[in-house]
Amino acid sequence: MLRNRIHEIMTAGKSGQKVVVFGWVRTKRMSKNLSFIAINDGSCQDLLQVVVDADSEASECLKQVQTGCSIKVEGLLKDSPAKGQKWEIVADTLTIIGEVTAQDYPLQKKGHSLEFLRDVAHLRPRTNTFGAVFRVRNVLAQAVHNFFSQRNFIWAHTPILTASDCEGAGEMFTVTGFDLNNLPLKSGKVDYSQDFFGRRAHLTVSGQLEAEFLALSLGDVYTFGPTFRAENSNTSRHLSEFWMVEPEMAFADLEADIQVANEFVTYLIREVVQKCTEEINFFEKFYKNVKLSDLEKLAEAKYQKVSYTDAIKILQESKKSFEFPVDWGADLQTEHERFLSEQVFKGPVTVFDYPKDIKSFYMRNNDDGKTVAAMDVLVPGVGELIGGSQREERLDILEGRMDQLSIIKDDLQWYLDLRRFGSVPHAGFGMGFERMVMFVTGMQNIRDVIPCPRTPNFINF
Ligand code: 4AD
Ligand code: MG
Repeated sequence: MLRNRIHEIMTAGKSGQKVVVFGWVRTKRMSKNLSFIAINDGSCQDLLQVVVDADSEASECLKQVQTGCSIKVEGLLKDSPAKGQKWEIVADTLTIIGEVTAQDYPLQKKGHSLEFLRDVAHLRPRTNTFGAVFRVRNVLAQAVHNFFSQRNFIWAHTPILTASDCEGAGEMFTVTGFDLNNLPLKSGKVDYSQDFFGRRAHLTVSGQLEAEFLALSLGDVYTFGPTFRAENSNTSRHLSEFWMVEPEMAFADLEADIQVANEFVTYLIREVVQKCTEEINFFEKFYKNVKLSDLEKLAEAKYQKVSYTDAIKILQESKKSFEFPVDWGADLQTEHERFLSEQVFKGPVTVFDYPKDIKSFYMRNNDDGKTVAAMDVLVPGVGELIGGSQREERLDILEGRMDQLSIIKDDLQWYLDLRRFGSVPHAGFGMGFERMVMFVTGMQNIRDVIPCPRTPNFINF
């Protein structure tokens, strides 16, 4: 099918060029002599204005044209006299491809709330907002791969089905082949030895543990895939299914980890600034939570860092009344994270050396006996964007920590093997991909930056 994308027309169109455009109708305005149809085909933010002369053959099916239907237009490009658009197309022929058959096309009117649009997630990409979100998401995803491939990281594919609980938080969805109405029991408990894999299996919460064995042979690797958490957090920044980017580096300490994380964030922002100008301008104009000029500054900024202990002092001395108490030993809440990045450091900031009792078993113990070599990158508007650490590479210390936390070592002998056979210092981090999309678009709810959001009590298809 010969077809000119609107993106191609907007960037390389020529006056008088004959084009064939397919798209969905956003608006139609009829008058006695001329009618105007604005269409979008998803290839860019712009709408293309179709001009139909009442005397032309194209005007024959004008009546059936309505918001939401798909059409084909053949005609000539012409400089548009209208403000804010470079081209319009003067239609020679106009064909309806798909009519709107039901009366209640949900996007008939403009200006629906984001909540309303969540209930029609299958149609919302046709709006300006979601078209922009998903194009930015795509640019970020491509940029993730470019960043790591430029640095010779190997893109490794870690499994979605796993038997290990990486974060040790017990927030996993069980995967089973059992008939749930007829579970085999042993001493009153479900007997997973009879299940599909012969043991209990889950959807992964993180690809990190598997990325570690790959890094400890291939050097620098990264994973980028869906992860699943059965935590009951109904917040604007938690999903039950989200995508995570996880680099893992051999012969690296926390310092190196922080540096890569900062370069990574800077690179992603720069790519968005360069490739999504129209989309960011759109978010700036209509949602006002992000500014292109601010992103440009962040793309060049040198990021700051602060130890957890100092961050607690800053929060306590701020005299601000937080909902959650600020005490050494407690985890930072979103309000604390946002205060630090928005008010104190005025940009992304890395907090490092967290108390070991609030962090996972695999993080490297610091010499003070109280903290681990962990780091979180906090950003304005979002809070925690990245969580990472240097990993405990010393077998005896790691085993001691697992014993303290009652982690069954038998299940993780392969992980301990990595500390038995040529162990090396290594480090990595995980960036929540949707949180990055939120950060650069300024979208306030994580449900609005992924095509199919899954959250407690919500799975629409
Ligand atoms: O801090 P987290 O839990 O770290 C890990 O999973 C490590 N294994 C990563 C590693 O070192 N390889 O998660 C990492 C990031 C968070 O900083 C956050 O951005 C995002 O993943 N994240 C979520 N995003 C959306 N919904 C959720 N429920 C999320 N939980 C974590
Ligand atoms: Mg974390």
